[in-house]
Amino acid sequence: MIKSIGGKKLDTAVFISGNGSNLKNLVKFSLSKKSPINIKFVLSNNKKAKGLNFSKKYKIESKIFLFSNRSKSENQILKHLKSRKIKLICLAGFMKILSKKFIKRFQGKILNIHPALLPKYKGLNTHERVILNNEKYSGCTVHIVNSKLDSGKIILQERVKINKKDTVQSLRKKILKKEHILYPKAIKKLISSL
Ligand code: GRF
Repeated sequence: MIKSIGGKKLDTAVFISGNGSNLKNLVKFSLSKKSPINIKFVLSNNKKAKGLNFSKKYKIESKIFLFSNRSKSENQILKHLKSRKIKLICLAGFMKILSKKFIKRFQGKILNIHPALLPKYKGLNTHERVILNNEKYSGCTVHIVNSKLDSGKIILQERVKINKKDTVQSLRKKILKKEHILYPKAIKKLISSL
């Protein structure tokens, strides 16, 4: 169960692999008075992830775990999260699949944002597939992470209309904009429902 004790912000970790626009957005959100989270730690499996520049800028502790041996990396990560008293993990463009064991240790406390309207278009290359299928709508989803890929309980979703002129790039851009609104909202919803 996720508890914010006496109005104190929940210590949160964000896991990234790339650009980190969601990380940037979540950090900004966490700095506002009304935010229920405090981002204490950023993890990346990629030392070249652009998002790491952002954690540096905001002086947030960050660490790289390459996941060349998943079980070893996850054990080290679990120890690290415990010592930092992390209560919530937000995946934000994190490209590694966490083990069942890891997810169990943070049951109901790992969130992910996916750039499609789940349960449709799980997995990778969502925008490409959505455009190929001539869908009229796509969007983004924040969900709890369980042991099946992109299949945990949905917290919030936002729909985006696709125009005939949309390309993979323009759709990605439109959806990212919505993601930046949706993720903080979903975090608030999850925490206030507990
Ligand atoms: C986002 O589209 C997110 O939904 C997906 O990966 C992308 C990450 O973008 N899981 P960014 O690194 O946060 O800019």
